[in-house]
Amino acid sequence: MEATHDVLVVGAGCAGMRAAIEAHDQGAAVALISKIHPVRSHSGAAEGGINAALGNASEDDPEKHAFDTVKGSDYLGDQDAIQVLCDEAPGDVYQLEHWGAIFSRTDDGRIAQRPFGAAGEPRTAYAADITGHVLIHVLYEQVMKRDIFTYEEYFAWKLIVDDDRCQGVIGWDLLNGGLKTIGAKTVILATGGAGRLYKGTTNAYACTGDGMAMALRVGVPLKDMEMMQFHPTTLSPTGILITEGCRGEGAYLINANGDRFLKDYAPNAMELASRDVISRAEQTEIDEGRGIDGSVLLDLRHLGAEKIIDRLHGTRELAMTYALVDPIQEPIPVRPGSHYHMGGVDTDLDGKTELEGLYAAGECACVSVHGANRLGGNALMETITYGKRAGRAAADWALTHTTVTVPPGIETDSERELKTLLDRKDGERPWKIRDELAQTMHENFGVFRRERQMQEQGRIVGYLRERYENVVIDDKGEVFNSDLTQALELGFLLELADCMVISGVERKESRGAHARPDDYPDRDDEKFMKHTIVRWIGDRPVLDWKPVTMTKWQPQERKY
Ligand code: FUM
Repeated sequence: MEATHDVLVVGAGCAGMRAAIEAHDQGAAVALISKIHPVRSHSGAAEGGINAALGNASEDDPEKHAFDTVKGSDYLGDQDAIQVLCDEAPGDVYQLEHWGAIFSRTDDGRIAQRPFGAAGEPRTAYAADITGHVLIHVLYEQVMKRDIFTYEEYFAWKLIVDDDRCQGVIGWDLLNGGLKTIGAKTVILATGGAGRLYKGTTNAYACTGDGMAMALRVGVPLKDMEMMQFHPTTLSPTGILITEGCRGEGAYLINANGDRFLKDYAPNAMELASRDVISRAEQTEIDEGRGIDGSVLLDLRHLGAEKIIDRLHGTRELAMTYALVDPIQEPIPVRPGSHYHMGGVDTDLDGKTELEGLYAAGECACVSVHGANRLGGNALMETITYGKRAGRAAADWALTHTTVTVPPGIETDSERELKTLLDRKDGERPWKIRDELAQTMHENFGVFRRERQMQEQGRIVGYLRERYENVVIDDKGEVFNSDLTQALELGFLLELADCMVISGVERKESRGAHARPDDYPDRDDEKFMKHTIVRWIGDRPVLDWKPVTMTKWQPQERKY
């Protein structure tokens, strides 16, 4: 073992850095490990904002925020977790502001808040349309100020478990090559989502579900893995996020006939309905021939140049650069794309998993505050509030325990495993399997789910996993061997896909992002108001269920 820490945080996006800061401030010796530089983390791609009932743009309060989130989750969110999020959100946003986050402002100098989908009030605090970028830099400054050690460009591959406790991580040093064993009294997973399971995604190349898969491999269950959110406005053809903030500022969605088609799907909320509702509406328009080249159009023209440049300058730049469209003059082609995993590592309200010493926060965790459909702006808030809570809880535990041990042989076994992979001379290239996985997940496990297609996807994933056993790495070198790490990431993705499909097949209802229009078009609270839980046993996922925590909000029909 080369180093030990009280708390080791895997992933340095908003959740990871917020967890590290909190653990440090509790008195723990903390380190971060990240496969990319912290400010390049995918949290930086979050655009539209962060939800907290500050009440700066209307009479708002945490109770309304909580109700909107419960309803938005299609009643699959745990109500105690949602209450915690909404109660702590305002204080946590002011903390960010005091650390230096430059939020956009109201005329009288308070933090500005814009409307977002399915939120009853304008609740989304924002920094133009680069909110994640701003927050990631503010958090990184705080990490640097505290001199928190960061294993930068280390690929975390395995969790170390000894004596029924998680006691560290085995990682690959991307810059120099070689495995490194890092011991820790507690480990916090904050590795983000797995959007790269899909062809069309807003997610960065780094979003390969590493933390979820590492947890799964040491026996920790994942929750609600079928719940992949499709964001309604991803740029065609790249999949880059076009923020919901555009619709918050008043943009329209129109079809090939120029109709604001949401009047037929969500006549009250229109473009500010929830993401699942709008993604289904768009997909229906496209499937029924009222799209344009597999897209619909996001029209900002009536907002005027001044507003677009002031509040949505990033969006304009993205549209001009990647679709050659200036939204001041022309509508932007958009379509639903995979965006956010509502499922993840099953945790309690302090980010604690079933395995002693292992915690998770942010997108890789499922507390669950998003249930079957996340509200835009709640993800950034979750990274901060639950990152903070996980950091505090992990530090508390670490500061009352002393030892760190590593099972004998784990390092040499891991080295042998990598050597076998690197020494293989013939076989299939990983990218072929990755592309097939992403294409077929898109076709068979997308906005709409159909029994036959999901079953077919289960078979495809099984076949791809067999082929994965024989992948060959061309690059045998040590320095920045992305061929190697992408192969390891593919192993993670394949196991997660298996978990998603088994959960989707067994959820025989439609709820939030899981829409089965043909066989189970309705929500079935009697049978399915419960979480799916998947464990990896032998070499396959095994499904179980867990009750949803309800406090005061009884399920109602969900309309927008
Ligand atoms: O549309 C957006 O700006 C995305 C925000 C989010 O996913 O929370």
